[in-house]
Amino acid sequence: MSKKNNVISLTAEKKKRDDKIKAEAQLQSQEMAVQKAIQNTPSIKEIKKEFFELSIKSLLAALKCKDDYTWGHSLRVAYFCVSVGKEMGFSTDELYELEVSALFHDLGKIGVPDAVLKKPSRLTDEEFLEMKLHPSKSFEILQDFPIFDKMAINAKYHHERFDGRGYPEGLKGEDIPLFSRIILIADTFDAMTSTRPYRKGLPFEVAFAELREFAGTQFDPMVVEKFISCMTKEQSKNESTFTLQVIRGDFKKDAA
Ligand SMILES: [Fe+2]
Repeated sequence: MSKKNNVISLTAEKKKRDDKIKAEAQLQSQEMAVQKAIQNTPSIKEIKKEFFELSIKSLLAALKCKDDYTWGHSLRVAYFCVSVGKEMGFSTDELYELEVSALFHDLGKIGVPDAVLKKPSRLTDEEFLEMKLHPSKSFEILQDFPIFDKMAINAKYHHERFDGRGYPEGLKGEDIPLFSRIILIADTFDAMTSTRPYRKGLPFEVAFAELREFAGTQFDPMVVEKFISCMTKEQSKNESTFTLQVIRGDFKKDAA
């Protein structure tokens, strides 16, 4: 082989080697890109969780658009329910179900006319009948979401009374789901202690006495005692803090 041919052959071999190295590097970077894509792809579980949380946010946003007070009330009721749920030793999953049920308990108020929902004075019998449809409407809104099936039921029964004289079905005692019994107490407590434009919220102690007076008729007596014990602790923990003002609904008034 001539000297010239030898040089050509060496150059060709070097090019071949370089191409091979280049191709291997490309393959490696493609593999890394695929691996990264797999790592960044959310699992079905993560997608479900995100869908669940976005659904909660959008339904609460709809409630806020309808009535700011009911939205704030729902957040406070959820806060009370989770506090008492912890006191009662519920698991993380149970606390989550209770929290979301409480957030959604009054969702059906979206379907109550403003003239009834926002009426500052006493409702007529006819208006009260309209208002009493809201737990069933909460159920109607939630029932088609399989992820909210338990929450739909807990919301539906949050106005049942322990003595069977509540609505919508007149369920009695432990036939009422436990989470609905808890929500009713938190709901009533917030209605008594939060400040409205037309009246100041009651002190916690007065609200506790009211809950005790109706324990066994309106409310589950076991849950009333758990609730009062839990709220007493919350009160001493949060005395004079912003959180307590938010819970009581006083913060707007104080800021004005
Ligand atoms: Fe309600």
